[in-house]
Amino acid sequence: MSAESPIARNFDCVEIPEQLRSKPFLAALPKLTAATEESCNYCLSYTNGELTLNALKDKALMGVCSNFLTPAMQRRLRQPLKQQMLGKALGLKAQRKQRILDATAGLGTDAFLMAASGCEVTAIERSPLVFALLEDALVRAQLAGGSFAVIASRLTLQQGDFLHWDAQQHQYDTVYLDPMFPAGRRKASAKKAMTLLQQLLLEEDCEEQLLSHGLESAEKRVVVKRGRRSPPLAAREPSLQFKGSTNRFDVYLS
Ligand SMILES: C[S@@+](CC[C@H](N)C(=O)[O-])C[C@H]1O[C@@H](n2cnc3c(N)ncnc32)[C@H](O)[C@@H]1O
Repeated sequence: MSAESPIARNFDCVEIPEQLRSKPFLAALPKLTAATEESCNYCLSYTNGELTLNALKDKALMGVCSNFLTPAMQRRLRQPLKQQMLGKALGLKAQRKQRILDATAGLGTDAFLMAASGCEVTAIERSPLVFALLEDALVRAQLAGGSFAVIASRLTLQQGDFLHWDAQQHQYDTVYLDPMFPAGRRKASAKKAMTLLQQLLLEEDCEEQLLSHGLESAEKRVVVKRGRRSPPLAAREPSLQFKGSTNRFDVYLS
């Protein structure tokens, strides 16, 4: 996370749900006051029970959260993943229930979709801030019950750096990578969540290590999400490609 972007919270520690592993991280953030508002560009708050991230000096970047319960997510969940590009890249037709490691979890949309298709997904997120947003969304999905809770039960979250993950101890069918695009390379229409994350998070500079470590951890394949016209990760040509209108999935067979 960028050192120039300190974050404040505008809630009391008692409001942080006990079950959040992110509680110590959230509690350690400075409370938003007139004094901290000067030095902080971002602030976390609870809005309608959701942990949300706001840019204090940019009204267009308010209310970013992770939420698996939205109508948009419900629409996506109704379309079988194996018929979509992501499902094809994962090879879901040949093997429906995979063990997947989402090594760059972000706000968890892709991880939740993969878990909804029946896969057991472990999702790792390096940034404690993004992990807190993701964990908050997963707890709300568990509390929502029904099919949301069933999907949530297939999704395990880990906070940490995938590059420090012991590839020998953890074996997965598939490793999924969706590293940050360099700032400025997304279209102006890029979603506000990604715009805000691009401001806050480190740009990916370990492409070769990510791909090599992915290939060591995957028994079958590594799937990499790229912009449609982006060069392949670490300039390594994939075994297969699935292209959509804005994104592309590159598949590296192990
Ligand atoms: C583009 S976002 C992923 C979006 C995600 N696919 C989704 O559906 O929300 C990339 C995320 O990967 C995380 N990341 C990048 N390198 C990582 C690493 N080595 N280990 C764990 N997380 C990493 C970043 O912090 C960022 O949150």
